[in-house]
Amino acid sequence: MTKKILVTGGAGYIGSHTCLLLLEAGFEVVVVDNLCNSSLESLRRVEKLTNQFIRFYKVDLTDFDSLSKVFDDHTFHSVIHFAGLKAVGESAEIPLHYYEQNIGSTINLLKVMQANNCKRFVFSSSATVYGDPASVPITEDFPISATNPYGRTKLFIEEILRDQSKADKDWQIVLLRYFNPVGAHKSGMIGEDPQGIPNNLMPFISQVAVGKRDKLSVFGDDYDTPDGTGVRDYIHVLDLADAHVKSVQKIDQFRGVTTLNLGTGKGVSVLEMVKAFEKGSRKSVAYQIVDRRPGDIAECWADPAKALEVLGWNAKLGLEAMIEDTWRWQSNNPLGYEPSE
Ligand code: NAD
Ligand code: WQD
Repeated sequence: MTKKILVTGGAGYIGSHTCLLLLEAGFEVVVVDNLCNSSLESLRRVEKLTNQFIRFYKVDLTDFDSLSKVFDDHTFHSVIHFAGLKAVGESAEIPLHYYEQNIGSTINLLKVMQANNCKRFVFSSSATVYGDPASVPITEDFPISATNPYGRTKLFIEEILRDQSKADKDWQIVLLRYFNPVGAHKSGMIGEDPQGIPNNLMPFISQVAVGKRDKLSVFGDDYDTPDGTGVRDYIHVLDLADAHVKSVQKIDQFRGVTTLNLGTGKGVSVLEMVKAFEKGSRKSVAYQIVDRRPGDIAECWADPAKALEVLGWNAKLGLEAMIEDTWRWQSNNPLGYEPSE
């Protein structure tokens, strides 16, 4: 029988790519999203690309009753929980909203799952839970901490899931700690569509390359790194999506909480990224060096060995593909999912 997966936040950046790969892998997909940071157009395009149907519910996960009704309509094999707010700076301005949305939503979801005896759960965690790591590469057993309210929501949710798993041994939980997701589907039809000024490096660079913004501000060139700029582990969104498919395929073999880093294991600096993007897009990317961004760390990259061992997953797509695919999406959709006609 076809397994049905509930994808919360499925209209978003990582969720939409994961829905596509889930459908291609033969799963049935139901999406719950309040569209606060996304557009239904992403899912329409996934349907076009796969020639398959996605059942969509416009539901806010903080609304317990509406969420319960979704479970009345379906029996899910497992839940992949992407829904959440993710802007680090904004989380420091409106922390209560972040706690209410991210933690409140997750508690509602877990309660509804428990009531429906659905106990397989894949959660979008983040490398942000490593805070300022003492060294790199980072393994899953590094101490966890948080430097901002967004990061604390991820950390608290991880703790809640560990507590729930101790209380009820039937839960099978996979915590996926993403490093820096970038890239887009090869078709150029779906990709990252940030609202307003992008917070993250890759969408900012691509908006400079396409002429939407004047220049990139490079946040500091005096870090203790080879060229002085910040080093991160950028990971292609399709590789990330693939790890979610493998997680739901293998989740029955797991007990308790399984925590996995999703990164490539390679660090790339801001200036290396700018140069590589210019090469890949054949556009120039103007930049200026400015002060460090408060809260940023020098280096962050993964040791991804455990994901290979446990999930049989490793990142297959390199920097060239990340840039080529970002650029195809950005140049084909300069306004994102806004109707271009
Ligand atoms: P996104 O904003 O594109 O997707 C999140 C989706 O959740 C959006 O479609 C939004 O409308 C929906 N949503 C938010 N709050 C909701 C609520 N209360 N009820 C229903 N829907 C809600 O973000 P993304 O980049 O695809 O990230 C997905 C997940 O991965 C998030 O949990 C994020 O914190 C986590 N993550 C992202 C990154 C990254 O850099 N993109 C890195 C690490 C972890
Ligand atoms: C990457 C590098 C910046 C923008 C954030 C969150 C993290 C996770 C992923 C969700 C850094 C530099 C950036 C710019 C720049 N999200 N930069 N100019 O900070 O590693 O991680 O997104 O979980 O929690 O903190 O990613 O893309 O913002 O920055 O110089 O305009 O690019 O200083 O070195 P970051 P990023």
